[in-house]
Amino acid sequence: MTDNTGWWRSAAIYQIYIRSFADGNGDGVGDLAGVRARLDHLADLGIDAIWFTPWYPSPMDDGGYDVADFRDIEPLFGTLAEAEQLIAEAHARDIRVIIDIVPNHASDEHRWFQAALAAGPGSPERQRFWFRPGRGPDGSEPPNNWKSRFGGSAWTRVPDGEWYLHLYSSRQPDFNWDNPEIRTEFEDVLRFWFDRGVDGFRIDVADGLVKDPALPDVADGDETPFSDQEGLHEIYRTWRKIVDSYPGERVLVGEMWLADMSRAARYLRRDELHSAFNFDFLVCPWDAARFRDVIDRTLRAHDEVGAPAAWVLSNHDVTRHVTRYGREGDTGFSFANRLHELPVDRALGTRRARAAALLTLALPGGLYVYQGEELGLWEVLDIADELRQDPVWARTGGKDPGRDGCRVPIPWSGDEPPFGFGSGGAWLPQPEEWKAYTAAAEAADPDSMLSLYRAGLRLRRDLPAGSLEWLSLGEGVLAFRIGTEFTFALNFSASPVPLPAGEVLLASGPVGTELPTDTAVWLKS
Ligand code: GLC
Repeated sequence: MTDNTGWWRSAAIYQIYIRSFADGNGDGVGDLAGVRARLDHLADLGIDAIWFTPWYPSPMDDGGYDVADFRDIEPLFGTLAEAEQLIAEAHARDIRVIIDIVPNHASDEHRWFQAALAAGPGSPERQRFWFRPGRGPDGSEPPNNWKSRFGGSAWTRVPDGEWYLHLYSSRQPDFNWDNPEIRTEFEDVLRFWFDRGVDGFRIDVADGLVKDPALPDVADGDETPFSDQEGLHEIYRTWRKIVDSYPGERVLVGEMWLADMSRAARYLRRDELHSAFNFDFLVCPWDAARFRDVIDRTLRAHDEVGAPAAWVLSNHDVTRHVTRYGREGDTGFSFANRLHELPVDRALGTRRARAAALLTLALPGGLYVYQGEELGLWEVLDIADELRQDPVWARTGGKDPGRDGCRVPIPWSGDEPPFGFGSGGAWLPQPEEWKAYTAAAEAADPDSMLSLYRAGLRLRRDLPAGSLEWLSLGEGVLAFRIGTEFTFALNFSASPVPLPAGEVLLASGPVGTELPTDTAVWLKS
């Protein structure tokens, strides 16, 4: 695993949301033992790497993105020794391991935040976070008007009267990255995990670490003082030096929801991050011209800095794409409005999800597969309110149903819940219909989503490299060639179009002499 192949430039990376992947000890929550037992599923699928969402000790206010200790494993998930074993077992299957790092904030149970609370105003302990007096005569107004991305104010008051900043839940206080201690701490955390064999980090809220120290009020929707601040580049340059000091090719992947793609690409310069998720692709409505535009913009912005694009359709924060594509009209994802009330045509969504999978797998660059997407799972919309765990639900007073619906435990086998997830039930209820969507059922069905992903991931390895050249096959048809022997076409229009010439390598649905609506095809031609 120490070769310098640029593996990350074209890697297919599988995202594991640990508590919903597989439960090895029967407590209803996924864990490392569950992952270890299912590594063969991933090897058979044909992915190159796993990205684990946070596995650190956490009170789980935000599904583990509230980290209490950056150098250990959450006891619900396992132990540090087991994590090291898992890394070795993945490597033995030629699968690399990327872990989440959450540098923007800690859990309120982190020892540094506890120390800050105890030490009081003006103390060096409080300098590790953003503590400020409030506004108004008695300080009862928050220090500024920033909103938490999970709803409500971004400030919470502590008993001695000061307020602390949290861009997410009140149990996730933001670190003060102007304090050198925070920088040294995270540099050490990177080394801690590199020393244990991880191949890279997915950086949570990578655009948010540095704040404008004046903490100015903002107009609604303006994130300028806490997103994409120039000082971030210096942090990532330092991190990159640490990465490059380790053997093999280890990587840094940024989570950045920036509106301007060329701004995002600046983080991918040669001495900064290796790659970043492409969320414009994820939110793109089902329309040929819009997809062409987003693909063009992405490739152009990445080419400018010599970085590969990274395509993604779903993750643990967004409505699963079978459901998004099953809604008519512009269903572009928005963090605050998951459109739960709109009707869903699941057959339509599935057809489109199959076509989108072949598009994603054919595009130049790397891609992410979110656990369960390879089974064609959909968003579970009818979770009972009292079972919902995402803080987004509570912080918006139920206006936003939150992200639990894309985090329902994975069905592995059998006819009834928990479908082989574990022996002790599942922490969120699974739909009965998932009996037809278990990994076991789908492995036996050549027409399943799983079979399509397996075939696509396998064939993708042999696709020619090269730049993408658009083809004009009529309005509503997205088509391109890569190299001299590969043609891709996806028919977004309402009627069938003639199938382009060539030998069909793979298709997302039945094709004859025509390419039907919402169907994609790979051709050798
Ligand atoms: C990222 C994560 C999300 C988490 C948030 C706060 O957006 O993907 O799940 O809630 O950061 O850490």
